[in-house]
Amino acid sequence: MVQQRPSSRLPGFFKRPLAERAALISRWAGLDTSDQAVLLGMAGLNATGADHLIENVVGVYALPLGIATNFLINGRDYLIPMAVEEPSVVAGVSFAARLARDGGGFVASSDDPVMIGQIQVLDVPDVYVAAGQVMAIKEQLLEEANCCDLTIVGLGGGARGLEVRPLLDTPAGPMLIVHLLYDVRDAMGANTVNTACEKLAPMIESATGGRVNLRILSNLADHRTATAECTIHPDELETDELPGPEVVRGIVEAYAFAAADPYRAATHNKGIMNGMDAVCIATGNDWRALEAGAHAYAARSGRYSSLSEWWVDRENNLRGRLRLPVAVGTIGGATRVHPAAGVVLKILGIQSARELAEIMVSVGLAQNLAAIRALATTGIQAGHMRLHARQMAVAAGASGEMVQQIVEAMIAEGSIRLDRAQELVREMKD
Ligand code: MEV
Repeated sequence: MVQQRPSSRLPGFFKRPLAERAALISRWAGLDTSDQAVLLGMAGLNATGADHLIENVVGVYALPLGIATNFLINGRDYLIPMAVEEPSVVAGVSFAARLARDGGGFVASSDDPVMIGQIQVLDVPDVYVAAGQVMAIKEQLLEEANCCDLTIVGLGGGARGLEVRPLLDTPAGPMLIVHLLYDVRDAMGANTVNTACEKLAPMIESATGGRVNLRILSNLADHRTATAECTIHPDELETDELPGPEVVRGIVEAYAFAAADPYRAATHNKGIMNGMDAVCIATGNDWRALEAGAHAYAARSGRYSSLSEWWVDRENNLRGRLRLPVAVGTIGGATRVHPAAGVVLKILGIQSARELAEIMVSVGLAQNLAAIRALATTGIQAGHMRLHARQMAVAAGASGEMVQQIVEAMIAEGSIRLDRAQELVREMKD
């Protein structure tokens, strides 16, 4: 049963002091005092805990955790934690989520969480014959793969299929690639799939007489995609300078640029990943896997292109759609080991990895809208300036009220530079 929650529409949230924002989120998500201590950096991952996660640990590295507001996804309200160092990302995505909310919010869906494991078979006399030999023992292979993770199988996951892909022309000569399709349920799945591939290798060697080299998951998880769509009324997009339909046209033209040009598509897609990575990191998921899958998917036609699409519908609304592989979990990996990731999952209040993927793809679409709307209207720098000035002031050694005074002074002067911020700090301290 999905619990009803208060609205995620929190006008003026960004204007409140940090302590009030943290208290509001704690009430909204029902966090206890130990969760709050983790959020505020008073507890959570320390060097001793980190020492259990990776090798050669000498400390921990912190990132800001912001909350994106206004998200309505499949009729449910979400406040979305994002771990990111870049100014404007959280503000931009919250703004775009408010625009989408007025058009009914995001409609998101996802595939079953089926990952691909790859097994590379070499030294066979004929790759097509070897492909037949593998398919002849398909049922035994799937049964064996199911023995690798009885928990996942018990939860309804497990081996779903086998594919054979002869590669005739490679720098190492012909080879056969076997794909194991495996439903990993709420896990990201890398460990389960890698274990299964390693388990199947000897059976494949004896069936084909060949030699197995690599046995590893593919990050091009194109059986595990998530899709989000949204509709924005042109009036929502009106600015002081431009009527709504002109902004809609500018956004569709921005999309067309990314669809046609890989140089622009890389930046357009980077904007999408600004949002998706931030949620991926906050939930303790593997953002490199997400990135690899996204960009490989963007090049699936043979030419790198835009991951999203934007168009005008019959009612002259702006419509957007984003689809890409989203291989993330809510169990396993750092998701349950990193204390902050645990609190983030509580704030999200999600039931499954698929729900997380649907949130992430909606965030990606919103982030993309925020970026191309800004680019097609005032340009990206206007919004960045105030935050950039804040960073300069803090880097120059300002604290407390002095930060704001320096920001206002630099904006008034139209010169936002570290040396000027340092000068102002010196003057104010004198
Ligand atoms: C900056 O981090 C992201 C953007 O460059 C994305 C885009 O150009 O669409 C603003």
